[in-house]
Amino acid sequence: MSDAVLEVQGLQLAIGTVPVVEDLCLTVARGQTLGIVGESGCGKSLTALAILGLLQAPVRRTAGAIRFHGEDLATALPERLRQIRGNRIAMIFQEPATALNPVFTIGRQIAEVLQLHRGMSGHQARIEIETVLAQVQLPDPAAQIDRYPHQLSGGQRQRAMIAMALACQPDVLLADEPTTALDVTVQAEILALLQDVQASTGTAIVLITHDLAVVSGTCDEVAVMYAGRIVEYRPAAELFAHPRHRYTRALIDSSPARTAPGALLPSIPGQVPRPGARPPGCAFAARCAAASERCRRDRPELTHGVACWHPA
Ligand SMILES: Nc1ncnc2c1ncn2[C@@H]1O[C@H](COP(=O)(O)OP(=O)(O)OP(=O)(O)O)[C@@H](O)[C@H]1O
Ligand SMILES: [Mg+2]
Repeated sequence: MSDAVLEVQGLQLAIGTVPVVEDLCLTVARGQTLGIVGESGCGKSLTALAILGLLQAPVRRTAGAIRFHGEDLATALPERLRQIRGNRIAMIFQEPATALNPVFTIGRQIAEVLQLHRGMSGHQARIEIETVLAQVQLPDPAAQIDRYPHQLSGGQRQRAMIAMALACQPDVLLADEPTTALDVTVQAEILALLQDVQASTGTAIVLITHDLAVVSGTCDEVAVMYAGRIVEYRPAAELFAHPRHRYTRALIDSSPARTAPGALLPSIPGQVPRPGARPPGCAFAARCAAASERCRRDRPELTHGVACWHPA
């Protein structure tokens, strides 16, 4: 895709000699939202960290390119990565506490980002900070500037973190479980906010979540990850209407939004095989009702958006 802002090609991550993420390819264009979904341990967060160049030992990238406007960040110098990170590519996490420093005011923390990446300070920065706090719909932005993180509610802290991420008008926003710690109403507000921001700025968003309900209303395309690989990658509307991989189907059926209030959450029987214990064929075969001998023996490649020998 020529208008791709971010393009990940053949990414492989390993812990020691054990592969954790394999043959991962993703593309996201300006103004688009890509969802990455999958159960815990599938490699979603490591993929995000790899894109940002923030992997830490023992995890390392063993192959693949991470192109940002065509420039490969995987081979970029650390100094170049620091220029891009938090500036052209920003990230928000599940727990704002990890990104916000408790001893500094919200205003001071956003000011630092503006100073570092845009050389902005003093009065000019203050105006910009108020603008961005208003953009994330924090009430009374001028007053929030002098508040400390603990003086905000969970939802407000998440808005403050989004404000920090947006301060430099990034081309790409990586959001790793940005609403998981929030209650359902606030969750919906934060997702609506991200969409608003995107509509006005054209920021490409990569939205990582284990909850399909989160991606169903917000994403243009969805990549479903299972045991370190993408098993289905299609336009969101098509994927939800006609899931082709049985893992996607199972995820949709077990989504909390599908479950009656108060009912036990259905889970997919069995477990995701751990890195190092993945079978030679399709990693989902052991949990799949349609698995054949071939599925257990040969790994299906991703073709026409699905990696399955017997797609629905
Ligand atoms: N520093 C580390 N050392 C060893 N193993 C790790 C490390 N970080 C991650 N892993 C393993 O790599 C795999 C992928 O982890 P990752 O955090 O990317 O999963 P995830 O899809 O984000 O899961 P979750 O939904 O729980 O956030 C998991 O099996 C995890 O246990
Ligand atoms: Mg994670």
